[in-house]
Amino acid sequence: MFQAQAIASSDKAGFYRELTSQLEGLLAGESDPIANAANTSALLYQMMPDLNWAGFYIMRDGELVLGPFQGKPACVRIPVGRGVCGAAVAGRQSMLVEDVHAFPGHIACDAASRSELVVPLIRDGEVIGVIDLDSPHPARFDAADQAGVERLAEIYLAASAR
Ligand code: SME
Repeated sequence: MFQAQAIASSDKAGFYRELTSQLEGLLAGESDPIANAANTSALLYQMMPDLNWAGFYIMRDGELVLGPFQGKPACVRIPVGRGVCGAAVAGRQSMLVEDVHAFPGHIACDAASRSELVVPLIRDGEVIGVIDLDSPHPARFDAADQAGVERLAEIYLAASAR
């Protein structure tokens, strides 16, 4: 069941429909935000092809702090406005970065990362954290991935207690 395969861009809508339904099933009946972030990270890392990192940063006292993730150990604290994650918080919008080497201030946790997608978690108008996905392939993520992961973020937020 949990196996990543390469997905053609045209098939991504169907892929995310399936992933959405898997995440809903995985989080059903559980509202603990850490447990749900851990299982969301694991599902994304297992199911999405060509990732080297998938996880959460959570807002704590005005900065992002590392949350549940899959991949290599990562930097723990990211100030708002710093790196791709901090930019997603400051701009309150998803960040799709085709080439992280060309992104000013990118924070390289894993030297293998070449592209990145960061989706903010917004509850009642407040950014409470981000989902961060890294890939070793340039331009791994496109608008279909962004829309798909934004939907997954909504499912995470709906399932999890504040
Ligand atoms: N690259 C991120 C930092 C987090 S790691 O990728 C896990 C950034 O620039 O914010």
